[in-house]
Amino acid sequence: MLTSLQKSLLSCLADQDLHSGAKLAASLGVSRTAVWKAVHQLQEAGFPVIHAPGRGYRLAFPYQPLSAEAIRAAAGAETAPAEIQVHDLIDSTNTHLLELARQGAAHGAVVLAEGQLRGRGRRGRAWCSPPGENLYLSVLLRFDRPVAALGAFTLVAGLALAEALNELGIRGHGVKWPNDVWHQERKLAGILSELQGEVQGPCALVVGIGVNVHARESGALPVDQPWTSLALVQPGAAPDRNVLAGRLLAQLFRAYELFCQSGLGAFEGLWERYDLLRGREVQVSGLRESLVGIACGVSPEGHLRVAAGGQVHHLHSGEVSVRPHGHA
Ligand code: BTN
Repeated sequence: MLTSLQKSLLSCLADQDLHSGAKLAASLGVSRTAVWKAVHQLQEAGFPVIHAPGRGYRLAFPYQPLSAEAIRAAAGAETAPAEIQVHDLIDSTNTHLLELARQGAAHGAVVLAEGQLRGRGRRGRAWCSPPGENLYLSVLLRFDRPVAALGAFTLVAGLALAEALNELGIRGHGVKWPNDVWHQERKLAGILSELQGEVQGPCALVVGIGVNVHARESGALPVDQPWTSLALVQPGAAPDRNVLAGRLLAQLFRAYELFCQSGLGAFEGLWERYDLLRGREVQVSGLRESLVGIACGVSPEGHLRVAAGGQVHHLHSGEVSVRPHGHA
């Protein structure tokens, strides 16, 4: 939990200008030592407060504190989520929301955090989640249908994210099956969907979304894939995290309604628009045998279709990488 002094300090530094310790102390009504201590604690928690000796303090990127009201306003009245929890630091927004779901949280409940201590990615990987820098959001969607019918929704979540980014002026991105969002051969965002409930339904799906917003090349994202961020893609114009969260939720709730009415078929056009693998040579690992072939869209169940050796394989799991020089 951030103290109110730490929060006020972050607000003062939000403009990214250099602020002297003396001026900060005066405007916050505390001693310079108290400012120094609070800065130190923020640095320990992972906030990139930079100390320029003799000159003052500044933040490494523009910072907007997450705010449930701002997110709700950006989502718009029609798609406003049921409940929005904003945490400073949390283990994982997915883990927390799964627990809330078990306790009966309503459809549409949302959990966000400034930072995650144990952010989780797909395939048991960690998701590096430094505070204040990126978007870490989980949303609970309840479905009245069998678990087997929901696998395809994870693709829909990726499309909703791609559409939200498009709405905010980002271009050149697409979805890499099943739901990673990449921009020019680099990963921009990832989604971890986790199911809970009865095999025959009803069930609850926690969709956890991580978007790299201000992460920089010099940042410490220990990821094993090439990555990028909105700040790198659109220098000086990365969207406000609250607006991004709001538009993402609006797209996600709209996509949920459409998926419940019409299934994955209703997203065919969008998938074609954002499909980054179509027509490219891909390598699929994590299966019994590794497979190399040409990606040719998805099946009505959301399985990746890969043409190889005169057959079309339908994959519902497996790690897909695009082979270098792999344009068909
Ligand atoms: C991936 O491996 O690509 C999926 C990454 C998902 C990360 C998000 S951040 C919010 C939510 N909470 C987590 O612990 N993970 C997801």
